[in-house]
Amino acid sequence: MPTTHAQDRAVLSDHGLEIDASTPETWTALAADVLRGLTAEGEKHLPPKWFYDAHGSQLFDEICELPEYYLTRAEEALLRSHGAELAAAFPAQELVELGSGSSTKTPLLLEPLLATGHLQRYVPVDVSPSALAHAEHHLGQRYPDLDIERRILDFTTQLSHLGHRRGGGRLIAVLGSTIGNLEPVEVQAFLEAVRAQLGPRDAVLLGVDLVKDVATLEAAYNDSAGVTAEFNRNVLRVINRELDADFDAEAFDHESRWNARYERIETRLRANGPQRVRIKSLSLDLTFTAGETIFTEISRKFRRETVAELYAGAGFSLDAWIAGDSNEYALALARPS
Ligand code: SAH
Ligand code: TRP
Repeated sequence: MPTTHAQDRAVLSDHGLEIDASTPETWTALAADVLRGLTAEGEKHLPPKWFYDAHGSQLFDEICELPEYYLTRAEEALLRSHGAELAAAFPAQELVELGSGSSTKTPLLLEPLLATGHLQRYVPVDVSPSALAHAEHHLGQRYPDLDIERRILDFTTQLSHLGHRRGGGRLIAVLGSTIGNLEPVEVQAFLEAVRAQLGPRDAVLLGVDLVKDVATLEAAYNDSAGVTAEFNRNVLRVINRELDADFDAEAFDHESRWNARYERIETRLRANGPQRVRIKSLSLDLTFTAGETIFTEISRKFRRETVAELYAGAGFSLDAWIAGDSNEYALALARPS
């Protein structure tokens, strides 16, 4: 569940750890998430947002280019073929993109929106400052008249910090099937928070990966070049650096498997032998048995009905479902109902 800064501090202080008030909130949030997740009863777990330091964001960009990772190309193809139609259906004045990363696909949405003559502002939102800086740089050069206002925030807890909508139509886009990385209990709250940032005539666009054959799905998360494995292990490197820990990242194997019941890929790190790890900043000593796992990510796969239901549960109605002929990926536009 998303937590507040105060709750994160309380978790730490329950363990006798007092956090200096001047410490950035992100450090406190990481420390609390690591303490909570790695001392959990049952399977250890870590939230996915900690993959994305500068190196993690760069690894993610490499994932998008992998032959097995069809998602990016599928989404690009849909934006290319249906961008103009989307822009005509909703000629926004402001595009807010959540989890924008390095905004590589965004021009495919920005260009048709600019062509309507209404778009003035692009607000990329991400937890990765390096990805945002990169995005602002390349988009700023390409679209000198566009007002670009980046926001570094956690979209699961801090959407209310987005700033007021300024009339003229706000479109909130969440591409890359990022919505599929939210825990089931988080999705509803997230969409409700998105709804709260929109007026009655605004709209939301989700890019969602669809249920398909298991071999294609599993290959997308188990590339032969091992980039996804490095991306997964990067969370351990982030913990080593930020919390003064001594994880041997290579001692953990990458594992991504389809879970048919929940229709999602589950990504884990599996200790390939017994491990002892010290996390100095948390005064925490951990042991891992051989084969023990840390749950690091879910990538849920969708169907049209489930997306329509999720939208309906948060006060939206599905307005356009664009899946192309291949039906491997979809863009789902919705408006407040
Ligand atoms: N939209 C891009 C990037 C997707 S990767 C694409 O489609 O290729 C997911 C992005 O979401 C990363 O850039 C990551 O830093 C960001 N992210 C993950 N969890 C987040 C959170 N809780 N709040 C804000 N950004 C988050
Ligand atoms: N949103 C992406 C997805 O679920 C994130 C991602 C890509 C990812 N590859 C990954 C997450 C590998 C964990 C492991 O497809």
